[in-house]
Amino acid sequence: MWLSWYIDLLSTAEMAASCGDIQVKEIDKRASGQAFEVILGTPAPDAKGEFPLSPPKKKDLSLEEIQRKLEAAEERRKSHEAEVLKHLAEKREHEKEVQRKAMEENNNFSKIAEEKLNQKMEANKENKEALQAAMSEKFKEKDKKLEEVRAKKETKEGGAEN
Ligand SMILES: *[C@@H]1O[C@H](CO)[C@@H](O)[C@H](O)[C@H]1NC(C)=O
Repeated sequence: MWLSWYIDLLSTAEMAASCGDIQVKEIDKRASGQAFEVILGTPAPDAKGEFPLSPPKKKDLSLEEIQRKLEAAEERRKSHEAEVLKHLAEKREHEKEVQRKAMEENNNFSKIAEEKLNQKMEANKENKEALQAAMSEKFKEKDKKLEEVRAKKETKEGGAEN
């Protein structure tokens, strides 16, 4: 998108240069691209002779055209910038969502683990209580038997005394 904007700007400059309004001079050449120097209102010395031939009205119009094109290019650049920012915001939002989900999953895992542990503890407690109840029942039975034995013995002894 940057490239198309750049090409637009270049073609605008080239068009203007052909009208003799501005000069385009290549000033730098790098791997990343090319840079141009745009000089407004300074025609080349050899073009001076041709200048009076072009009607002033046409010159004004082409300047307007250049201005319009430059503004349009600026609009596109801004729009692209907004697009990039929007994309970045969406990416950040997505990352947040992923993080939120991971946290939720972690929370769910912890909750489930805790619930399982509680269930286990509850089951252990119930088992223990059941065991205690059963033991208590047995002791009670034993006590009852002991009591019965003691009562019989007492009855016998009482009978012996009489
Ligand atoms: C976490 O648990 C809730 C309710 O139990 C469930 O609706 C949600 O989908 C779970 N989230 C994940 C990421 O597992």
